[in-house]
Amino acid sequence: MIVVHTIQALQDALKNKNGIALVPTMGNLHDGHLALMAEAKKHAPTVIASIFVNRLQFGPNEDFDTYPRTLEADLEKLEKQGAVDIVFAPTEKDMYPEPQKFMVQPDPALSEILEGYYRPGFFDGVATVVNKLFSIVRPDVAVFGKKDYQQLKIIQKMVKQFGMPLKIVPMELQRDKVSGLALSSRNRYLSEEELKEATRLYMTLNGVKASLEAGAIDLTALEQSAEKQLREFGWQPDYVVVARQSDLLTPTRDDLLNKEPLVILGAAKIGTTRLIDNVEVF
Ligand code: PAF
Repeated sequence: MIVVHTIQALQDALKNKNGIALVPTMGNLHDGHLALMAEAKKHAPTVIASIFVNRLQFGPNEDFDTYPRTLEADLEKLEKQGAVDIVFAPTEKDMYPEPQKFMVQPDPALSEILEGYYRPGFFDGVATVVNKLFSIVRPDVAVFGKKDYQQLKIIQKMVKQFGMPLKIVPMELQRDKVSGLALSSRNRYLSEEELKEATRLYMTLNGVKASLEAGAIDLTALEQSAEKQLREFGWQPDYVVVARQSDLLTPTRDDLLNKEPLVILGAAKIGTTRLIDNVEVF
């Protein structure tokens, strides 16, 4: 495995390489990321992991400065796993040598709801850096986890609408084998007590799933009751929403009757840590 820090060094390393899979990350790697790397290896002989904490996707009151940067430990994990051939860990100066004035602006119908509503500008920042990574790396395949469900949908749409010549491979969300907690870099902010409680978000979404499978069709009642449950256990929910998997819009009555594929998305704060999770239905 080689590690490069500049675009030039990466492009030199990529000369004569055919079949490239990219896994974009912000580092602080956990088993969820390693599963993305293993998936990438199934799709192309050369796997590139990018590690870059992208300032553009953090709001002014978010955790850009304190976001865990653990390059040494990340490299050890990747080396041990053996799926990644090249790690691209650029500096901020290399990625943004001048203020980024040209931004990718995803369709507001997809990017200003849910996460985009609570984190204004977040998906512009994500789409811009991913677009830039695609231009630099020119991968044949890029792997994105379903943990960031809305992000995955936006990237899929960007690739489709710009006719980008690569395939997006979605990867199932990875959970802690015992508790079911969705693996996330932000779990490290949780205290021991909060860690025990954190799985309730998943349990709550599963409760909504069970109701939908049993034929419930009053989505507002389901969503409100899920948020109330979270509040009762000390959470501050931003949303629990049932949406269509295809476009993240609210399912119609016909969608529910026809068992259109749905997803239940949730975001809530426990203490000062904001967690997101989702569960697919049908
Ligand atoms: O999902 C993430 O870690 C980030 O949003 C991504 C895709 C690496 C872009 O910075």
